[in-house]
Amino acid sequence: MQSETSPSLSRRRLTAGTASLCCLTLLPSHARGKTPSLAVGDFLMPVEEKNGACLTESQIRNSNTAIMCWPVSAQTHQPRMETPYNRLWVMRTHAGFRGYSVICQHAGCLVSDWDSATHRLTCPCHGSVYDVEHDGAVVGGPAPLPLPFATIAVTDGYLRLASDFSAKVGGHASRAD
Ligand code: FES
Repeated sequence: MQSETSPSLSRRRLTAGTASLCCLTLLPSHARGKTPSLAVGDFLMPVEEKNGACLTESQIRNSNTAIMCWPVSAQTHQPRMETPYNRLWVMRTHAGFRGYSVICQHAGCLVSDWDSATHRLTCPCHGSVYDVEHDGAVVGGPAPLPLPFATIAVTDGYLRLASDFSAKVGGHASRAD
C-alpha cells in the first residue's frame, strides 16, 4: 500500500500527467466528462507546477493570491486530470482555505479572472462575478447559482481537500457561444 505522506510527485509522474492534460485538450467536451472526481484527502497541485510539488500553507498563507490547482490522489499521488471539472481555484478566505470550481455556473466557461483586491472571481464569457468571501455568491452577471466550493484543511503543512464540492459543478444554461 502506498503512503499518504509523500505528496511530491516524481518528475516522471508529472510528465505522464502533463501528457494526459495535452490529450484532454484534444478531446471534444462531451468526451472529457463533466462529473468531478476529486476526493476528501486529496492534495492540491498548481496547474503551472513543473516538478509535481503540491501546495503548502506557507505558499499561500499570507497572500491574496488564488492558485488554480488539480486535486492529487493521496493514494496514487497522481493528479486527477481526467476532467477539467476537477480543477479548483485555491485561496485563503475569512472562513479558511477554500477551493472554488473553475467552471462557470452560467454556461460552463472557465472562470479565469481573480481580483485579489475584492476576492472575486469573474467569468469572461458573459461577466458573471462570484464573491469567494460569501460562499461563491453571484454578485454580477447571469449565473443563476453560486460557485461551488470545497473546504480545505492543513495537514503537515500541506493543503488537502476536506469536503466534496458544495453543489453540482457546471453550466446551468446552454452555451451562447
Ligand atoms: S458562461 Fe460564465 S458568464 Fe456565461
